[in-house]
Amino acid sequence: MKNSSSKHRSRSTFRSMMRLSFSCFRCFSSSSDIPTDNALIMQGLQVLQNVHAFSFNELKVATNGFRSSNKIGEGGFGSVYKGILQDGRMVAVKMLSAGSKQGDREFISEIASVSNINHENLVKLHGGCIDGPYKILVYDYMENGSLAQTLLGSEEKRAKFRWETRREISLGIAQGLAYIHEEIKPRIVHRDIKASNILLDQNLCPKVSDFGLSKLFPEDFTHVSTRVAGTLGYLAPEYAISGRLTRKTDVYSFGVLLLQIICGRKAVDFDPELGEHYLVEKVLLFLQAANSSPCLIK
Ligand SMILES: Nc1ncnc2c1ncn2[C@@H]1O[C@H](COP(=O)(O)OP(=O)(O)OP(=O)(O)O)[C@@H](O)[C@H]1O
Ligand SMILES: [Mg+2]
Repeated sequence: MKNSSSKHRSRSTFRSMMRLSFSCFRCFSSSSDIPTDNALIMQGLQVLQNVHAFSFNELKVATNGFRSSNKIGEGGFGSVYKGILQDGRMVAVKMLSAGSKQGDREFISEIASVSNINHENLVKLHGGCIDGPYKILVYDYMENGSLAQTLLGSEEKRAKFRWETRREISLGIAQGLAYIHEEIKPRIVHRDIKASNILLDQNLCPKVSDFGLSKLFPEDFTHVSTRVAGTLGYLAPEYAISGRLTRKTDVYSFGVLLLQIICGRKAVDFDPELGEHYLVEKVLLFLQAANSSPCLIK
């Protein structure tokens, strides 16, 4: 699990892929290793054709040399910087750190999943860069950061959302999910729906981001068996137990997110007395109490 470090990777395969791709795409370069996994190599070659290849220098200039004042966040993947491209577009530049929990396979998954899709409620991937040890993804910059910051952040940073806004945000996320689940081929299961992966643009329109753990579902597949990955507090219990991944896995995480949007609490919280406690459990306890004493609901 992500909070407790469970993003899975395959470094050597990725390097192999990049080595092969080098002959076809000049800006993507890497060294070492002999190809081992043909399917992944083919997938890698295919997806690299779909994105714009930035040069490392271009991104260095855009982010003022990856200056710390340009840094807007940090996740399991590495650091995220705000940047301005030569044509004036504002971008978020996500650089895979050497010790990142998120692996090379996820880097490819992200490009494979997002490069072909365009939807108002999905963050737009502009392109990527693989240059020696550097692996970088470039997205549209979202002025209002993530839902985790604006909804659950510190008092000074928190926005006071009206109910109408909360409703619009929830609907937007649902539309993004419905699109990847129902409308595109192959369908995509995101596997890491959570507050920090929902970004908000200047109009508070939500965009689902971070497709590093996503899985592509061929049309006739109802489920895929995988090693369990995701984030504690958002994982569907049946998936956590069996590794059987379906679209419902995302729907469960979306349910947890809805609870957060309604009550403004973290999915997993820590209390010195109670230890770790889960929002879903709290809500269930509350519902049980409310059922036995209906006046609580009022
Ligand atoms: N396109 C973007 N526009 C604006 N801010 C962004 C963008 N992408 C990421 N960020 C900021 O960078 C932070 C880190 O993002 P990242 O996806 O790397 O990690 P995370 O979602 O916080 O954690 P995890 O690695 O567990 O997914 C986000 O929480 C968000 O505040
Ligand atoms: Mg994220």
